Amino acid sequence: MGIEETVLARLLPTVDEELSLSQAASELISRLSSDPEALKMGMEPRLVGSVAKGTYLRYPDLDIFLVFPTDTAFDNMASVCERLGKANLDSMERRFADHPYVHGVFQGYEVDLVPCYHMEKGERVLSAVDRTPLHTDHIIESINAQQQNEARLLKAFMKGIGVYGADSKSRGFSGYLTELLILHYGDFSSVLNAASVWKHGEVVLTVPTVDGYEGNLIVNDPVDPRRNVASAVHIDSLSIFIHASKEYTVRPDERFFFPRKRTPMSVEEASEAISARGTRLLCAIASDGGLSDDNLHSQAHKALRGMSLLLIRKGFKVLNAKHVHNGDLHFIFELEHDTLPDAELHNGPPIWVSNSQDFLTKWKDGPFGPPFIENGKWKVFRRRMSTTAADVLRSDLKEASLGAGLSRNGIEVLDHDKALNENMMKVVSQLLDSRMSWDV
Ligand code: UTP
Ligand code: MN
Ligand code: MN
Repeated sequence: MGIEETVLARLLPTVDEELSLSQAASELISRLSSDPEALKMGMEPRLVGSVAKGTYLRYPDLDIFLVFPTDTAFDNMASVCERLGKANLDSMERRFADHPYVHGVFQGYEVDLVPCYHMEKGERVLSAVDRTPLHTDHIIESINAQQQNEARLLKAFMKGIGVYGADSKSRGFSGYLTELLILHYGDFSSVLNAASVWKHGEVVLTVPTVDGYEGNLIVNDPVDPRRNVASAVHIDSLSIFIHASKEYTVRPDERFFFPRKRTPMSVEEASEAISARGTRLLCAIASDGGLSDDNLHSQAHKALRGMSLLLIRKGFKVLNAKHVHNGDLHFIFELEHDTLPDAELHNGPPIWVSNSQDFLTKWKDGPFGPPFIENGKWKVFRRRMSTTAADVLRSDLKEASLGAGLSRNGIEVLDHDKALNENMMKVVSQLLDSRMSWDV
């Protein structure tokens, strides 16, 4: 058996699993459609997502959309959805992506219950998710049985290399996008062959259309050609996928689909690796503020960037930065140096402008001597407020933009030595262990 056949055999649900899945789906749909109030409002539940399209991997979620007539008030449909979720699902939680929905469990399956408006092809959407039933129709109409399995291979490949999912954690390829790629290129190998030579900004047109798109990858939506299905694909997810496609094409391996578990480095290994580099570590620990998974990672990306920019503004050289969610949010920075001198060069005005005298007066008794002239300007050495990178994060965090949702208060900062402890090895390894998932 070839690698892909072996992999597919592991991916395909068993006959029993398929049966129990479809029974659960029909049971839930029939319960939802027999609710009197929802019935009166003209709501129709509809199975969408990979289970409807036959492209699911084992133990999938059930995506059920509650489709309402377009004259329904938005708040009404959201509250009906919540009530139906409470009545039919275990451990129901309210969630919000760009649209309110509920998540829960039915007969052991994860369920997304999403309210949306009924929409015909070509109509303008009223809410963010109204296209989903049309996406489902499109794939069901276009995909054949062989291609359903090719889509499963592609999903598993993307999962294995860490770029599957359009959420803010993965910043990668959605299920629908993998299916469109299979339909466009034909099969799994052809997608990888094509992707091996993709460039940044690659345009894959599923239907002929106008140009003028912008993005890291552009795959237009056959259901609404102005829309880019790949808009969530981050430049690094695209890059990993291109690289993995090249590698797999040359050296196919099951590990692309089923990567080995990465064990965090020990404190000794990490200390050795970092002292060999001669660089310095800095960590920050923040409470996750009870944010939902999707929100959490977009906030964390913003905070990581905000803190890096702050460190750079304060004179530190940030070589690398990562975050992980490990109960709390752990941020890590790798710096060229983590201390700076007591003195800091402060630029003053040109000699000939009117306020240059004020500058002189203010700094004539400067701690490191009076101002001096260079290139027509006053300059002076003043005392640096925070001389360590840890102090910058402790004292100057108010100057950083962290994104909403994360509180500046209660952020714990660990310097190089404190960062090298057992609790931080997940984030430290994320930074120091740069092996690709299939090379672990
Ligand atoms: P999924 O993320 O479950 O993808 O969303 P999928 O195609 O079923 O693939 P897998 O196999 O589970 O990974 C299903 C559909 O529901 C929509 C998505 O846009 C997608 O088309 N959806 C899901 C939303 O619009 N909002 C949500 O909150 C959840
Ligand atoms: Mn799904
Ligand atoms: Mn889902």
